[in-house]
Amino acid sequence: MTPTFTLENRLPADYFTEALRSDALHGLTAHPKSLPPTWFYDAHGSDLFEQITALPEYYPTRTEHGILTARAPEIAAAVHARTLVELGSGSSVKTRLLLDAMLAAGPLREYVPVDVSESALRQAAKGLGQSYPDLGVHALVADFHQHLGLAGTRGPRLLAFLGGTIGNLLPEARAAFLARVAAELEPGDALLLGTDLVKDPATLVAAYDDSAGVTAEFNKNVLSVLDHGLDADFAPDDFRHVAVWDAEHEWIEMRLRALHPLSVKVRELDLVVFFEEGEDLHTETSAKFREQGVRDELQRAGLTLRHWWTDPAEQYALSLSFPAGG
Ligand code: AVJ
Repeated sequence: MTPTFTLENRLPADYFTEALRSDALHGLTAHPKSLPPTWFYDAHGSDLFEQITALPEYYPTRTEHGILTARAPEIAAAVHARTLVELGSGSSVKTRLLLDAMLAAGPLREYVPVDVSESALRQAAKGLGQSYPDLGVHALVADFHQHLGLAGTRGPRLLAFLGGTIGNLLPEARAAFLARVAAELEPGDALLLGTDLVKDPATLVAAYDDSAGVTAEFNKNVLSVLDHGLDADFAPDDFRHVAVWDAEHEWIEMRLRALHPLSVKVRELDLVVFFEEGEDLHTETSAKFREQGVRDELQRAGLTLRHWWTDPAEQYALSLSFPAGG
């Protein structure tokens, strides 16, 4: 069989404009004001995120990479997957560690990266096609809230959700997401999950408020996404980047704080938004986890955690779980 590259676009044609309109309308008229973190990732935002992953303060990416390097053979041995499905695959750098181990272990035939960015998928697939000529790559342009990418793939499947992105979901949304994963996984399939761990607040805050100001620029980039997408007139200099550790919920919040009273026109929505001095626009929640909490959340969803791997400093964890009873 000749390996193939296919790309399927499951996003509605008006996904970006319609979802942005509805998210902005709801979020900018809510109290407190908020926007979902998905809107960070236009081309510039994705580039800024890549820069973040190389910052000295931002440990999650390199820590996860280290754990994957050490554990990929064990992961491959524990699953025997024919298909690797990866949610939010982005640039797919970490994917290579998994692919190498899974190909060495045997049965892997197919890689299904799922991402909302078609350009990221095309670029990643191009590089992978050269490195792995025998692997079928079936890219899926989709929002993982709607499609997990498992439908139509042959098992056993490994579903990978790395980077700590599950932390962007609030507890209720997380429970719903994990329940869907459990419902779609079959006996023999597995979930590989990357979770950032609770640690001292100074380390956490520094990771989201770096000294070079890259995260501040990344945060403010969402304003230019609104300006371009909805003909708004947000001025980044009117806001200050803020990262706070919420010790009760054990999550980091990124916000944009108005430096003075201001009003912003969002022409596409016929909306004028007023900010008081010091008022925050919430732009991201990034939850941090503990082993027992991850185990419990998976268990409640119908998944059994069988492996828990961390770096020596226990900053970050990878877990491997299986459908309960499977
Ligand atoms: C890609 C969602 C895992 O929450 O750490 C990095 C995004 N935000 N710096 C995270 C992010 C600010 C990142 N995730």
